Amino acid sequence: MNNPSEFLTFAISIAKEAGKIQMEYFGNISSVEKKSTNIDLVTEADKKSEDYLIKQIKFKFPDHSILSEELGNIDNGSEYLWIIDPLDGTTNFTHNLPIFAVSLSLVKKNKKHICGVVYNPAADRCFYAEKNKGSYLNSKKINVTSSNTLSNSLLVTGFPYLHDDKYDLSFEIFKQFYDKTRGLRRLGAASLDLCFVAMGRFDGYYEYGLKPWDISAGALIATEAGASVTDWDNSELPYDGSRILTSNGKIHTQMVDILTNERYNIFFK
Ligand code: IPD
Ligand code: CA
Ligand code: CA
Repeated sequence: MNNPSEFLTFAISIAKEAGKIQMEYFGNISSVEKKSTNIDLVTEADKKSEDYLIKQIKFKFPDHSILSEELGNIDNGSEYLWIIDPLDGTTNFTHNLPIFAVSLSLVKKNKKHICGVVYNPAADRCFYAEKNKGSYLNSKKINVTSSNTLSNSLLVTGFPYLHDDKYDLSFEIFKQFYDKTRGLRRLGAASLDLCFVAMGRFDGYYEYGLKPWDISAGALIATEAGASVTDWDNSELPYDGSRILTSNGKIHTQMVDILTNERYNIFFK
């Protein structure tokens, strides 16, 4: 990217440093804590990565607000908001699977993106984007695929930690897509799922029950790579992460058709 903004240059540099912190712990974790459920985990690496990112943002942009997964909200009344997932893919991380990332984005208070970075330190892959400037992976421009049928597509999805009243139906949806595509993967890091659509590894992605920090950076990176990023019914993406649908655009309507089947109305409540 020519002339990355001060914000993006800063975001890339701190995401990479936070990735180094993660790698110091990777394969070497001594304790794992549980959060909302028995399978919702947090490690020392999540906390150290978060401490580092917040310290750097506070130092460089003391007036900016921050929303970070483990720490919560620091609202300074600024129009700038940093949204942080200090370690996306904690379950993978805990089990020594190298599919995890630092996810960091800067948005204006009106929720409009300025920039986003997703860094997968185990593979040294840095995805980044700025509004209207395209998406990049380690300096190389990336784009979505061009497949236009579900039968030629490979999709990815994920499931929330909370096994609530939508849980069984989510497997019905999984089966629908599994039957109609080349396959459907579950990798365990939403930020990377979005980046993998952006770089053309997957043709589409959907999930529900996420949070802003899971999707904020990845949604910009996918959009700037040419993806359609919407709610399940093709309306504007909900900021809170409650539902997300991302595709190369060409199979979007086919995915919307499945996700808006009236049997799945409960996902919109
Ligand atoms: C999780 C991952 C996963 C998704 C979960 C998220 P975490 O984030 O992104 O892919 O399915 O719903 O909570 O807890 O590893 O940061
Ligand atoms: Ca996450
Ligand atoms: Ca996390």
